[in-house]
Amino acid sequence: MHSFLLRPVLMLLLLPFSREMYTRATVGKWDLLRHNIGISAMHMQLLNNDKVIIFDRTDFGLSNISLPNGKCRNDPNDTAFQRDCTAHSVEYDVALNSIRPLMVLTDIWCSAAAVMPNGVLVQTGGFNDGDHAVRIYKPCNDGSCDWQEIKNGLAQRRWYATNHILPDGRQIIIGGRRQFNYEFYPKKSQAEKAYNLPFLVQTNDPKSENNLYPFVFLNVDGNLFLFANNQAILFNYMKGVVVRTYPTVPGGDPRSYPSTGSAVLLPLKNVGGAIDADVLVCGGAPKGAYINAQNGNFVRALNTCGRIRITDPNPLWVMETMPLARVMGDMVLLPNGNVLIINGASKGTAGWELGRDPVLSPVIYRPENPIGSRFEVQNPSTKPRMYHSAAILLRDGRVLVGGNNPHAYYNFTRVSYPTDLTLEAFSPSYLNPNSMNMRPRIVSPLSRTTIGYQQLLVVQFTISCMLNKDLVIVTMVAPSFTTHSFAMNQRLLVLSGNVTVVGKSSYQVKVVTPDSVNLAVRGYYLLFVVHQDIPSEGIWVQIK
Ligand SMILES: *[C@@H]1O[C@H](CO)[C@@H](O)[C@H](O)[C@H]1NC(C)=O
Ligand SMILES: *[C@@H]1O[C@H](CO)[C@@H](O)[C@H](O)[C@H]1NC(C)=O
Ligand SMILES: *[C@@H]1O[C@H](CO)[C@@H](O)[C@H](O)[C@H]1NC(C)=O
Ligand SMILES: *[C@@H]1O[C@H](CO)[C@@H](O)[C@H](O)[C@H]1NC(C)=O
Repeated sequence: MHSFLLRPVLMLLLLPFSREMYTRATVGKWDLLRHNIGISAMHMQLLNNDKVIIFDRTDFGLSNISLPNGKCRNDPNDTAFQRDCTAHSVEYDVALNSIRPLMVLTDIWCSAAAVMPNGVLVQTGGFNDGDHAVRIYKPCNDGSCDWQEIKNGLAQRRWYATNHILPDGRQIIIGGRRQFNYEFYPKKSQAEKAYNLPFLVQTNDPKSENNLYPFVFLNVDGNLFLFANNQAILFNYMKGVVVRTYPTVPGGDPRSYPSTGSAVLLPLKNVGGAIDADVLVCGGAPKGAYINAQNGNFVRALNTCGRIRITDPNPLWVMETMPLARVMGDMVLLPNGNVLIINGASKGTAGWELGRDPVLSPVIYRPENPIGSRFEVQNPSTKPRMYHSAAILLRDGRVLVGGNNPHAYYNFTRVSYPTDLTLEAFSPSYLNPNSMNMRPRIVSPLSRTTIGYQQLLVVQFTISCMLNKDLVIVTMVAPSFTTHSFAMNQRLLVLSGNVTVVGKSSYQVKVVTPDSVNLAVRGYYLLFVVHQDIPSEGIWVQIK
């Protein structure tokens, strides 16, 4: 814990070039990975074989990629094409930088998902004829896997709902348009129905809702932190009881869809003793922005973040100011515990044609720095990524960025912000070639090792520069399902440990694995060794 706190200060002392590195707009690098993946990356999830599942919607019209083997989808109920031989979901292979078309049977638009403890992606809901469906995707390495659909897997229609994986291995599905309730998947029995959630009635703005895609995090006590509109509660989902009501976010502006800020659970430090949990909510559009935008008045986005210690019995929001106002941003936890705020617009709101003035520069937020020195502006992209865009972390530490389609169809011409079919990668400054000698490389355990709770884990690594033992941490990241500016199930654990020398440039760090299933639900995580803020490539570990 000590080293984690001191790190930013020591960084400045140890790196003579860090001042220059940290100058505005010279950090971070953009690479175009593919100029056309055929669809617009609206929903994304990294799986434990380093393949990313991407999908948009079936009723955008014909996509730019055909279904495999001359397949076509016949759906008399689709609102665009009842016979469609194009794909609306693809699998992206990170290592090969290649795309494989997948087939969804009904509309998956504005849906949610979570990866189950066995690594299978379970997606829920969507629009129209797909709003009660559950879709299963089992990762494979031979190109044989595809979506399997369970037509009426849900008790209620789920469109703009948020999912979270639970300690018992099920997922909870919360809200969605005109759904003031939650349900589980899989169900305990066929008869298990949805449960009422009055919080979603209380937070529903009659004019523009502003409580869709609520921000949901599993707190370290096993309760769920739920944030919708400008309110938050701690919720015991098993008993249906509100455990704690948090204060309203200062200023009172809404932060969830369509106001669409973003939120993360900041790194959890599993270093013995009680664990604090902080939530950071950033950006969004002010109250009334949706109605204003529909009338052609695109108001400036919010430039504030609120941070709250959700484990504190009397918590308060601490407000901070971002260097750039942003609506529809994504917040990505980087392996070193920093937060990348990326994508979005500086005016307007979420919704068809309602965003203006893309924010091209990401910002890094350093949660351990003192207030006033946490934000750092990064080099800009050239591509607007506003409504229906996404960003996720990859195992090598890059951030995969795609999407942007503020139109009801694929529109490439005669519009201000054409449908974007590209994929880019943003590389934070820890991937600079000149810091490669400071980058640890994990030697053991091998990727896909299984671990348990509260176990001693020895991670062996090499590093070519001189190692500062006090500046080594191990982190574990749960990859998120990201859509509409929210990364569901995103979670980062800091495991501090003791470093010993094994040989020339070779070290081991001994850490204790997470204490409990509330801290880290069973399933696949990326594990990184971080030295002086520079992470190794991750390895996959499965908590069993
Ligand atoms: C996608 O397909 C449309 C329709 O065929 C075409 O007009 C457009 O140029 C294509 N876009 C890209 C990026 O290939
Ligand atoms: C289309 O909708 C009708 C009426 O809801 C339903 O009975 C039918 O099964 C649907 N067809 C398909 C292919 O989903
Ligand atoms: C987008 O394209 C569709 C046809 O594919 C067209 O009907 C629609 O008007 C276009 N939208 C805009 C905003 O130009
Ligand atoms: C690291 O060393 C300290 C002091 O010797 C000890 O208390 C702690 O248990 C060690 N941690 C691990 C994970 O071995």
